[in-house]
Order: sequence, then structure tokens, then C-alpha cells
Amino acid sequence: MLKKLLYITANSKPEKLSTSKTIGRQFINRFVSKNPDYVVEELDLYTEYIPEINHIIFKKRAELVSGAEYEKLSENDKKSIDRINELCGQFLSADTYVIAAPMWSVSYPSILKKYIDCIIINNRVIRITPEEVTGLLNDKERSMIYIQSSGGKYPKLLSGKFNHGVEYFEDIFKFLGIKKFEKILVEGVDTPDIGREKAITKACLDIENIIEKLS
Ligand SMILES: Cc1cc2nc3c(=O)[nH]c(=O)nc-3n(C[C@H](O)[C@H](O)[C@H](O)COP(=O)(O)O)c2cc1C
Repeated sequence: MLKKLLYITANSKPEKLSTSKTIGRQFINRFVSKNPDYVVEELDLYTEYIPEINHIIFKKRAELVSGAEYEKLSENDKKSIDRINELCGQFLSADTYVIAAPMWSVSYPSILKKYIDCIIINNRVIRITPEEVTGLLNDKERSMIYIQSSGGKYPKLLSGKFNHGVEYFEDIFKFLGIKKFEKILVEGVDTPDIGREKAITKACLDIENIIEKLS
């Protein structure tokens, strides 16, 4: 049976100009050539509709308005709910996730957080009880690869102080139940001693190692 790789990009730049998307594409091409049982679905967060969450469409934590309450909503709010359900379904249907994003202000672009808040839905991605919140993504083997390009290069020891995006995604997806998490850091893109070309060359080596590790 075919498996699905969901490729999520958080960058308005055309691929040729974006370092994270250049490495993302390279990863996808290499991954698919090694894993022909995969189909790729792409989600460009800058061109696709990602609803803004508000208190009208969410009745409580991670719970969308439904049933008779849903029917009373405006067409716009219904559209938001339908789209959030669709995004959540798309996320659940994948086996492998690749996120390509730049480092912005030692973190990641806010559109990516907007997306994450849309897909973490109660009884689909998490289960909330009065005692605890548990992740539901351990229902099958799933893996996540986070690709980040950054202007600077951060020493391993200080990495946690700067790589908040990477830390966040590793923490949250492990919590949700995704067992395998890998990262590709394209570092020093804007520094004179590394620069874009060298950073890309190094990241291409990392791609091969990670694909090997995942297979
Ligand atoms: C709004 C903004 C914030 C940024 N913040 C950081 C930062 O905190 N640390 C860093 O090393 N680089 C930072 N950069 C530089 C980018 O991470 C770097 O140029 C990266 O390679 C861009 O990737 P892209 O070509 O895929 O957009 C920032 C760039 C922008 C536009």
C-alpha cells in the first residue's frame, strides 16, 4: 500500500531563492527515489488557506464547535471549521512529515504555529481527560524531518538557546506520539565564513545520512 509524505513549507520566497525550500525539495526528491512506495502531498502555508483560530469556532481547548451549534454559525466561521477539520484529516493521513522553514527571531514563522494550532484537535490528535492530555499519533509508524535554514551558525552547546523552532517541534511531535524525529540544520547561510553554497553542500550530505537512517 502507498504511504504518504506531507511536505509543509513556511516561506513566501520562490523555491530557488529560499534555502530551506531548496533543501526541502532535495530531501523530497532523494527520499522518494529511495522509497518508491511513497506519494507526496504538498502544503504551502503561504498560499493555502490556514484559518485564524478564535473563541467562536473553538468551544474549549482543541475542540471545534459542532452539531446544532455549528449550524448557527456564520458562513465564514463554518468555512474555518471545515478547513480546520480538513487540515487535521490531511495531517493524520500522512506517515512521514517534512517541514521546511527558516529560523526567524530564533524561532520559526508564525504561520507555522497557526497551522499547528489548527491540527491539534481533541480526540483526533490528542485526547484530553480531566487528569491528562495524551498524544494519539502512535497509532502507526510516523516520522518527522524538520529542515531549518538560519543566517547564523550556533555552537552545539548553545543550540538550545537559539534553536527554539527545532526544540519545539521535536518536543511537541514526540509528545503527540511521533517516534522518529530528525533535523537538518542549514546553518551559517548569511555568514562570510560559511555562506549559502557551503551550507547547502553540507546539508546535502545530511540528507543522505538521514534517509539512510530512516530506511
Ligand atoms: C524576519 C527574519 C528573522 C530572522 N531571524 C534570524 C535569527 O534569529 N537567527 C538567524 O540566524 N537568522 C535569522 N534570519 C536569517 C534567516 O534565517 C536566513 O537568511 C535563512 O537562511 C533564510 O532561509 P530561507 O532562504 O529559506 O528564507 C532571519 C531572517 C528574517 C527574514
